[in-house]
Amino acid sequence: MSNTGKNETVTRNNTVWHHATITRKHREKLNNHKSVILWFTGLSGAGKSTLAHAVEDKLHTLGCRTFVLDGDNVRHGLCSDLTFTHNDRAENIRRIGNLAKLFLEAGVITLTAFISPFQRDRALVRNMVPSGEFLEIYCDAPIEVCEQRDVKGLYQKARNGEIEEFTGISSPYEAPVNPDLIVKSGSNTLDSCVDQIIHLLKLRSILTLQETS
Ligand code: ADX
Repeated sequence: MSNTGKNETVTRNNTVWHHATITRKHREKLNNHKSVILWFTGLSGAGKSTLAHAVEDKLHTLGCRTFVLDGDNVRHGLCSDLTFTHNDRAENIRRIGNLAKLFLEAGVITLTAFISPFQRDRALVRNMVPSGEFLEIYCDAPIEVCEQRDVKGLYQKARNGEIEEFTGISSPYEAPVNPDLIVKSGSNTLDSCVDQIIHLLKLRSILTLQETS
């Protein structure tokens, strides 16, 4: 890398990284809160999307800029070419990680709801951003509960052999070893899980006490 002296840095493939004059810090000041990635991980049906949207609702009422990136939705567009093989899941998370990083630069509290079953892929995203700006939230719900809920009927299909490489049935889920927060989304109420996450955001000084009181 070299700096051209015009707010540009020459990088690989003859492309040039342009440094914006309006930075994340300016956007955070305007928003009156810091940006962060809240990375929800857990089995299908563990409640990642429901929880991410409930936290977003709460943050929105507190006046925060937010956005939810949701697994099923992203696979309709940006990642519609990807399957559920190990390699494609890794590529899925790599793309989402880069997308979330752009949202972080945009000053947004970014909530991502992907199974993201592999430790290595989640660690890659964590390492893409400065320390403390990727908060891993493990939605810890037993597979029995997820399977009983079976909101989309996919567990039944997986058991019938109609879906291959289904997480928790025929494809592994590697639980986080040292997540920033574990929420028992299989047994605790939605409200109590939301409260735990808002508390975490206060503890990490993403939100000021004034905003959350
Ligand atoms: S990830 O493993 O690559 O992180 P992602 O979160 O994008 O997965 O997508 C998961 C969603 O895709 C599930 O909630 C479910 O609705 C659907 N799905 C379809 N096939 C599978 C499968 N084989 N394994 C897991 N989820 C699947």
